[in-house]
Amino acid sequence: MKEQLEQIKQQAMAALNNAATPADLEELRVRYLGKKGEVTAVLKLMGKLSAEERPIMGQLANSVRAEIEQKLEDRKTQIHASVLEAKLAEEVLDVTIPGVEVVMGHQHPMNQVLDQVKEIFVGLGYQVVDGPEVELASYNFTRLNIEEGHPSRDRSDTFYFNDDDSILLRTQTSPMQIRYMENHKPPLCMLAPGRVFRKDEADATHSPMFHQIEGLVVDEHITMGDLKGALVAIMKKIYGEDSVMRFRPHHFPFTEPSCEMDMQCHKCHGTGEVDGQTCSTCHGEGWIELLGAGMVHPDVLRNCGIDPEKYSGFAFGMGLERMAMGRLRINDLRLIFDNDVRFLNQF
Ligand code: PHE
Repeated sequence: MKEQLEQIKQQAMAALNNAATPADLEELRVRYLGKKGEVTAVLKLMGKLSAEERPIMGQLANSVRAEIEQKLEDRKTQIHASVLEAKLAEEVLDVTIPGVEVVMGHQHPMNQVLDQVKEIFVGLGYQVVDGPEVELASYNFTRLNIEEGHPSRDRSDTFYFNDDDSILLRTQTSPMQIRYMENHKPPLCMLAPGRVFRKDEADATHSPMFHQIEGLVVDEHITMGDLKGALVAIMKKIYGEDSVMRFRPHHFPFTEPSCEMDMQCHKCHGTGEVDGQTCSTCHGEGWIELLGAGMVHPDVLRNCGIDPEKYSGFAFGMGLERMAMGRLRINDLRLIFDNDVRFLNQF
């Protein structure tokens, strides 16, 4: 019986040394120490021994059992550690692999230009305001002196919402003059950038939606000299101190007198030609149109409850896309709205 126990012990130790997984260990525990296990089987034979032999063999059997239990514990710890090690080796991180770059976006080029323009006007004391894109015809036309039947009211030019043509997508930011003068008394100094809409086919210089920046100054003793001085100073800030400006007479129903302001072409310096070829920037004109402007019509002031005998003012409206195209040398308006990142990344 003693030899039997020694043999079991040796077999168990060898088997435990070879065990590789927690499942192997469990199988061996059942085989040797379980209810029907080999050590248990030997213990069951104890009854057949003499009274002197019994305690000696009992002691031996218990110590074999204890040694196997201890070995099981040791192997369990070792196997657990090696399983963990293998897992960690498998999941190893290579910190030298290049990372995936997170591409940061940036401000749209047109908004860059808009912010620069706003900053200049804010520095001069203008208040920047926002207004509705869905507008009443009374603000967009009537109160701006644009009478019924005026060509700019035509259904082929304007997006109307209803049959009596009283609600529309604003065709200009000039209705903001009325909205501002309704709520503010002179002296006032306002800048209103925003989207405007006209039924135009999109091409290199037209889009059914574009942006205008409206300006309005009303106070006592405002003259055409103030209009010219302010606009020349502002445009030189935007386009550079050496730019050359001119004013041409024009007509707008809501200003009197009215004018347009041009900048001498920076590429051909007003000659319209570059190396004997028609200048591509101004198309041979020598001048680039910047904005429409004029002295606020007395009727418009009256429409807003402002006394034209006491107050006068000037207003102007400029196209933001044209300004961005000029400043950033963009030759096709559609690029501004396509939002192709290959284009946007250039700014
Ligand atoms: N609203 C005019 C346009 O769209 C521009 C303008 C604004 C003219 C203010 C004079 C005064 O052409």
